[in-house]
Amino acid sequence: MNPEEARRIGTGIEYESGRTEPPDDFPHLQDIPGGRYVDPGFHALERDRLWRRTWLYAIHDDEVPAAGNFIRWDRAGDPLFFLRGTDNKVRCFYNTCRHRGAPVLMEPQGKVRRAFSCKYHGWTYDMEGHLVGVRDRRDFVGLDESCRSLIEVRCESLGGWYFINLDPEAGPLADSLGPTWDHLLEFRPEQLRLIDKEAFTLNCNVKVLLDAFLEVYHLNSIHRKTVDRFLDHRGSFITLWQGGHSRMVTPNRREGWTDPGVAGLPEIPGVDPIYATTNVSLNVYPNLVTPVSPAGMPFLCFWPVDLATMVIEVHWFAPTWGDGARPAIWETRLDNFRHILDEDLQFAEEIQKSVESSGFRGMPLNYQERRIYHWHAELDRRIGQDRLAPDLRVPDVLQAHVDSWTTARGSVRPADRQPTV
Ligand code: FES
Ligand SMILES: [Fe+2]
Repeated sequence: MNPEEARRIGTGIEYESGRTEPPDDFPHLQDIPGGRYVDPGFHALERDRLWRRTWLYAIHDDEVPAAGNFIRWDRAGDPLFFLRGTDNKVRCFYNTCRHRGAPVLMEPQGKVRRAFSCKYHGWTYDMEGHLVGVRDRRDFVGLDESCRSLIEVRCESLGGWYFINLDPEAGPLADSLGPTWDHLLEFRPEQLRLIDKEAFTLNCNVKVLLDAFLEVYHLNSIHRKTVDRFLDHRGSFITLWQGGHSRMVTPNRREGWTDPGVAGLPEIPGVDPIYATTNVSLNVYPNLVTPVSPAGMPFLCFWPVDLATMVIEVHWFAPTWGDGARPAIWETRLDNFRHILDEDLQFAEEIQKSVESSGFRGMPLNYQERRIYHWHAELDRRIGQDRLAPDLRVPDVLQAHVDSWTTARGSVRPADRQPTV
């Protein structure tokens, strides 16, 4: 982080801690309509115009460590798989045979050698997805194998973190991630390891739970015995960025406090000290939330399954500790985090029942919950408000409080970067 930005955050925290009301120019926020969580038409628009057209974090380099390693992946709805080719490049394909659509890879993950065959009628593909073998070739008339490669999905890496986009026309990942790309790069991703990954299914709309991870207003109730003991939510400094991304920097309650849960863990070298004295949580729009830390961080990914079902995935990354087994302190750290996560998940399914009932009339958000409003306003921008019924819209009243950023950021643009694999 550049020193000027760190100073701006420090000044912002002082301001937030001392204020007695929102800034003068902060607007009234209209209630978030409950229909956005329960309306099938809204859900379909959200799927088609957000989820199918945005960059989404999927897997880490460690999940396909060597040429031939593959992993199936369907969090975005469509059946996909990642495969590291003989050229060491990681590609993402539809797991859809070009003959009649059977899956070409059956196991959740594994390794293929040189080529692999569909189990239905034996069409064979090489490691770059080209169709290289057709059983009973003599019986096809006018089949052009060169046009029947597996369909590739846009896949780009940020230091070994692979993102996909179902939209073949999407712009580059870095241009989409904007300032969050720079933040993530500070943590030297190419030196991080994936050390844990788990997923939980909940019976609620994906936004019910996502909302909870965009504010710290709830610390003093559901995290009273955990996070609230060391973080001061009243000093939280928020930055909203164009594109729906946002950052929330929450100061430690006491100067000089260090997290005993990370004592002794190796740290990512060269990271700005501000990450040790505060909790910096990023929302990489739409569904990646990460509280970044010099001692490693989780990626929380929120996935819609259907209108009222979702999955939260937790991917943990740690700076390398050299050879040998994972340091034992990680067991405690992961357990502590699961405990905090349980606190966060406790109301989601009940809230879903409420928003489905006649007793729900919308959500009034306050100044410190404005990241949620920003998230929803961006969703409307992506869907296009003219496609939404008036009673489902979230008017774009926060523009004056949203920071812009430029995509012409020189060396961090992927076109200028060395491939990381
Ligand atoms: S569906 Fe794959 S070979 Fe027929
Ligand atoms: Fe929480």
